[in-house]
Amino acid sequence: MRGVTVVDHPLIQHKLTIMRDKDTSIASFRRLLREIAHLMCYEVTRDLELEMIPIETPMVKMDAPTIKGKKLVFASILRAGNGLLDGMLDLVPAARVAHIGIYRDHETLQPVEYYYKAPSELENRLIIVVDPMLATGNSSIAAIDKLKERGANNIRFLCLLAAPEGIEKFSAAHPDVPIFTAAIDSHLNEKGYIIPGLGDAGDRMYGTK
Ligand code: URA
Repeated sequence: MRGVTVVDHPLIQHKLTIMRDKDTSIASFRRLLREIAHLMCYEVTRDLELEMIPIETPMVKMDAPTIKGKKLVFASILRAGNGLLDGMLDLVPAARVAHIGIYRDHETLQPVEYYYKAPSELENRLIIVVDPMLATGNSSIAAIDKLKERGANNIRFLCLLAAPEGIEKFSAAHPDVPIFTAAIDSHLNEKGYIIPGLGDAGDRMYGTK
């Protein structure tokens, strides 16, 4: 699919299989999500531009590479996005963070926004939006609509699982936003859950079922 990168590293696929298993504990689920976030963060940031800066090692002066430009922004779609966010921040601790509170109305499956807080100067930063599940696409589309309204123009979307229906809708709404996912599953059920999926990511992460 155009604009979609499936990060199919064996370690990610192995960890994802354990996460899908309904008998996996909450503690393991959370830890695995964090570990997968590390591996996917590596991939989603692979082409970041570098610039040389002068430093001094204990031995000599040298020019050494550093990431160019303003600090990245990780935008977490609450609440499940926070599971990926934690792992991303392990790798890029200086990143700025946006929180976008959107829940899915279980009747209409439409997104309802209840919280938004983001760093300044979105127009000058790379923004990586994180949400483990790209299901209907409604929440992620709404989150990115909001970020674009506030000036964002360089956005990537990172998830764990995507449904074909969600990818299609998302790509139609935001063709400029590349998607990184660990897997593309079969379909959505009538309640908007990804099949085979892993259930409700937020519930499995926080034990709220
Ligand atoms: N959100 C989830 O947490 N799981 C799904 O299967 C779909 C949306």
